[in-house]
Amino acid sequence: MSITLKKMLVTCALPYANGPIHIGHMLEHIQADIWVRYQRMRGHEVWFVSSDDTHGTAVMLRSKNLGISEKNLIRKIQQEHEIDFLNFNISYDNYHTTHSMENLFLIRKIFSSLNKKNFLNKKTIVQLYDNQEKIFLPDRFIKGKCPICYAEDQYGDNCEACSSIYEPTDLIDSVSSISGTPPILKKTEHLYFNLPFFSKMLNKWIYSGVLENSIIKKTEEWLKLGLKKWCISRDAPYFGFKIPNFLNKYFYVWLDAPIGYISAFKNLCLKNKNLNFNEFWNENSKCELYHFIGKDIIYFHTLFWPAILEASSFRKPNGIFVHGHLTINGLKLSKSKGFLITASDWMKCFDSDSLRYYYASKLTNNISDIEMNLNDFVHKINSDIVNKLVNLASRSSSFINKYFCGYLSDKLDDYSLYEFFISKIKKIEIFFENREFSSIIRSSMKLLDIANQYINEKKPWKIKEKIEKNNNLHMICTMGINLFRIIMIFLTPILPILSKKTEIFLMSKLIWDNIEQPLLSHKIKDFPRLYERVGSDKISQLLKLSK
Ligand code: MSP
Ligand code: ZN
Repeated sequence: MSITLKKMLVTCALPYANGPIHIGHMLEHIQADIWVRYQRMRGHEVWFVSSDDTHGTAVMLRSKNLGISEKNLIRKIQQEHEIDFLNFNISYDNYHTTHSMENLFLIRKIFSSLNKKNFLNKKTIVQLYDNQEKIFLPDRFIKGKCPICYAEDQYGDNCEACSSIYEPTDLIDSVSSISGTPPILKKTEHLYFNLPFFSKMLNKWIYSGVLENSIIKKTEEWLKLGLKKWCISRDAPYFGFKIPNFLNKYFYVWLDAPIGYISAFKNLCLKNKNLNFNEFWNENSKCELYHFIGKDIIYFHTLFWPAILEASSFRKPNGIFVHGHLTINGLKLSKSKGFLITASDWMKCFDSDSLRYYYASKLTNNISDIEMNLNDFVHKINSDIVNKLVNLASRSSSFINKYFCGYLSDKLDDYSLYEFFISKIKKIEIFFENREFSSIIRSSMKLLDIANQYINEKKPWKIKEKIEKNNNLHMICTMGINLFRIIMIFLTPILPILSKKTEIFLMSKLIWDNIEQPLLSHKIKDFPRLYERVGSDKISQLLKLSK
C-alpha cells in the first residue's frame, strides 16, 4: 500500500556531559531509534540527531575536581557517549555538542531576536549563595524539604515526589551540596524571558495533537497556576556562553540546551549539502519535528521551548514523546541509592539487541516507569528470541539445507496460515506509529507460538520421502522459513543485529513493503548461529561492575 512520504527530524534529549551513559538514558535512545528505524523502513526521510549537553555548573565542578579543562572533559565524554550509542546501534545521523560554533551562532541569533521583540528584561533579585565556595547555587546544587509536600532531599527547582515546581528559596532547611553549608542570600541582577506573554499561545498549542493526554494534563496544571518570567542568565563562575553586553553573566544551560536540537541539525547540514536548514526550521516548515524526552524534563519542552521557538520565529515541534523512568529491581538508577549500570558495563556482559528487545517488550506510549528485573530479562530473551524466534528458523532450515540444496519450494504448505500472519501487518504498523512497542512484541510472540505449533503438528522430522521437489517436507519447511521472515521484518527496527544476520542467512533484504510476497524457489544459506543464549551467570558479573 502506498503512503504519503514525509520529511522528519527526530531528537533525543541531550545527555549531560558530566558522566557516562547509563541504561536509563539508553531507554530513551533505544525507544527513539526503534521509531526512527520503523519510519525509515516505511520510506520516510528521517533525520535523527542528538548532542551532548555540555554547559552548566555540574560540568564546571566536575572538570575542576578532575583537574582538567572543561573543553577536555567534554571532548572525552562525548567520545565515550558516541561509542555507547554506536554499540547499541542508535542510528544517529549526527551527534553534536552544545559547545559548538553552531550553537553559539544560534543562541546569539535567538537572543537578539528576543531582545528586538522586547521579550527580555533585567531584574535584581536575591539568590542562594555558597559563601564558602563563592558561587551562586544552581537549583540542582541545593537540597532540602519540598515546600508543598514536605518530601525530604529534594532539589531546588522541583519535587520528584509531587512534581511541584517552586523557587529554590522556598525550599525548607536548604544546604549547598557543594560545601554542605547552609546558603546565604545575595543580591544579583538577571535577565528574564517574558514567558507569561506566551500563555495564550501555549494554551492552544498543547491541544494541537503534540502531546499525549497525561502530558496535556500536567501542562494544563502548570498553565493554570500561571506562568512566571523565566530567568535565562547565570552568574560567573559558569561554563557556558557569555551574554553579550552583560558583564560576568552567562546564558543558562537550559536556554542553550534545546537550541542544541537546532544546532545539531545545522551542523548536519554542513556535512550534507542536500539538506536545507530553513526547510526544516522555518516558522511554517512542512517537515515534521519530534522530541523524545523523559518525564523529568516535561515543562522545559512543553512550556519554555515552544515559547522560545515562537518568540524567535522558529517552527514548533509536532510531537513531544515522553517516557517514564527505568528502575532496576524497584530501585532508581543511582550510584548513591543503589547501582548504576552504564552502557559500557552492559556491553561487557550482554549484547545490545537483548536490551533493545527487553525495553521494547516493556515500552508503551505512556509515562509509567519501566521496571527492569534482570532474572526476568534473561528468561525473556532466552524464551522469546532463542526458543521461539531463532528456533523456528533453525528447525525449518535444517531440512531445506540437508535435502533440498538450500532451495525453498515454489509453493507454501498452508496459504491461509500465511494470510493470517499477513493480516496482522496493519495492526503492527499502528503499534509502531503510536510507539506501543510492547504490543508488537506480544503480537509477534503469539504469532511465533502459532508458527511453532504448526511445525509441531506437521512433524517434518517424521516425513519419510525427502528427495523429490515440492513434497510435504519441502513445503512445510518453506512455510516455517516464511513465517520466521514475516516476524523478522516486524522486529527489524527492534533487533538490528539479528536482522542483519537474518538477511545474510535468507540472502534477501527484510523490506517492509515486501512482506506480503513469500520467498519461494529461493536459495538460503546454511543455518548460522543467529543468536547466543544469554547466561544468568552474567547477572552477578554485571551487578559487581555496577556497584
Ligand atoms: N541535559 C538535559 C536534557 C536537555 S534536552 C534539551 C538532561 N540530561 S540527562 O542526562 O539528565 O537526561 C537525558 C535524558 O535521559 C532525559 O530525557 C532523561 O529523562 C533521560 N533519563 C535519565 N535517567 C533516566 C532513567 N533512569 N530512565 C529513563 N530515562 C532517563 O536532562
Ligand atoms: Zn513535593
